[in-house]
Amino acid sequence: MSQSSLPDAAGIRDRALSELSTAGDAAARQVWRNRYLGRQGEVQKLLDGLKTVPAADRPAYGKAVNELRQALEQAWEEKGGEGAGGAVAAPGEFDPTLPGRPYPSGAVHVLTQTLDRIVDIFHRLGFSLADGPEMETEHHNFDALNTPADHPARDEADTFYLDLPPGPHGRWLLRTQTSPVQIRVLEKRKPPVKVIAPGRCYRRDEVDATHGLFFHQVEGLCVGEGIALPHLKGVLEFFFAELFGSGTKIRLRPHYFPFTEPSFEVDVSIPGRTFRGREWLEIAGCGLVHPKVLRGVGIDPEKHTGYAFGLGVERIAMVRHNIPDLRMFYENDVRFLKQFTYDGAV
Ligand code: DAH
Repeated sequence: MSQSSLPDAAGIRDRALSELSTAGDAAARQVWRNRYLGRQGEVQKLLDGLKTVPAADRPAYGKAVNELRQALEQAWEEKGGEGAGGAVAAPGEFDPTLPGRPYPSGAVHVLTQTLDRIVDIFHRLGFSLADGPEMETEHHNFDALNTPADHPARDEADTFYLDLPPGPHGRWLLRTQTSPVQIRVLEKRKPPVKVIAPGRCYRRDEVDATHGLFFHQVEGLCVGEGIALPHLKGVLEFFFAELFGSGTKIRLRPHYFPFTEPSFEVDVSIPGRTFRGREWLEIAGCGLVHPKVLRGVGIDPEKHTGYAFGLGVERIAMVRHNIPDLRMFYENDVRFLKQFTYDGAV
């Protein structure tokens, strides 16, 4: 066996151990590990050289390299190995121990979340979804809803009329309420009808914390034989208790809407909550569908009766989440939006 065919295992070991003892931090130790024990490190280079060693010398050569590797691995483990101090990859190397980069996921807007919740509760009560256009006719938005020409809502100053030639149903406008969907549904379908119609509405309001140029409503309509006030009250009681929690109470306050008779405003009282110091908060409008409205769509009010209601989605979201200002819904400020996601991400 010739001396020259054996590796200088002792020399490499001494050098490696002295270098490791001065490797100050995890990064330096990782560099050391790559240099000696890495895939192209010193030990591997010696192993690669095995094939050029004369056959007779190979066992001794292999043994020397193995002992070297064991000595270096032991020294590495004693220094903390991959663990303590956190292994750090050499520049350009993949380090599987690093935490993943956060990847922010998108989320449903808080108004849509609220709407989904509303729709879900009404689905369970047997309502199906209906839809109508945001660009409406004067007939559907007003006349068919028994809203006379001198009603203030029809004023130029309150409504966005469109600069289009009037059609068979009068002038065009951006609907001021979702109630015209009642008409659209009853024009097409015969009772029994039980629908909700969520959607956007537009009004020329002065913009402030509780008014915008547009907002969202959910319209409800149920028409059938023998439909009466207790049905309406039962549905609203169930709905608001589901939405705001058990113990939530409602009361119906007599009011006026042109398309219902009698008409009511709905107030809610939620356990443990006050609204500007008051127990009751106005949250919806409702009533029994006016006989004129039914007759207008060819339904005999002696045979079929119905109830209707309208809810404001923004107002409900504001109550659910204690949001003080309606404008926050539309500003798209992530600091606001991310508060309504499951993990704080947007
Ligand atoms: N459309 C009404 C509004 O915008 C709300 C409303 C009140 C809808 C009573 C209804 C109802 O269906 O029965 O103020």
